[in-house]
Amino acid sequence: MSPLAEAPPPPGRVLISEEELKARIGELGGAIARDYERQSPVVVGVLQGAFLFMADLIRAIPIDLMTDFIGVSSYGIGTRSSGAVRLVSDLSMSIEDRHVLIVEDIVDTGLTLSYLKRTLEARHPTSVRVCVLVDKIERREIELALDYVGFTIPNVFVVGYGFDHAGYYRNLRYIAALEPVAGAPERPPLVPPRARMSGA
Ligand code: PRP
Repeated sequence: MSPLAEAPPPPGRVLISEEELKARIGELGGAIARDYERQSPVVVGVLQGAFLFMADLIRAIPIDLMTDFIGVSSYGIGTRSSGAVRLVSDLSMSIEDRHVLIVEDIVDTGLTLSYLKRTLEARHPTSVRVCVLVDKIERREIELALDYVGFTIPNVFVVGYGFDHAGYYRNLRYIAALEPVAGAPERPPLVPPRARMSGA
């Protein structure tokens, strides 16, 4: 069996295409560039999910800026939030007296972003704003101000363009809904990386 045949099956319907992502990220970048001109913001990507969005977004912001990353974990390997937010890796620089823009892939309950804003605001930055690619507003549990929003989507579990399911699908160029297929288990069959690498 070839390595490709053993990979997880493609997810369900495409929600946001590669072209739509590119166009919207261009618009967000333009708006951010106008708002932060001459402010040299620190753009903080939230690992892991936001790494693709962050890479495309900063290339659409034609002003001086710095980048950093922060790692949090709020979900297990399933499709539901555990509700607990954990800092797993911190920024590499001080943000004191800096304008900070948090770049996040998705806001769902809002617990992660709320935690992140509180954590970064405690370090005395000049400002903290948020840019989120996907807003799943139906799921919000706490009030949260979002400064830049790419897309609002319904309450479906999404994969692709940084979003994963049990670690897979982050590398898709589009965002898709992970839908259970009739007669199939909800979770796609996962193949151990070693088996896929060897093509066994
Ligand atoms: C996802 C996403 C956000 C968070 C949003 O992270 O990247 O950080 O959940 O959910 P909330 O609004 O309910 O808090 P996840 O823990 O899945 O980690 P990942 O980014 O590494 O995939």
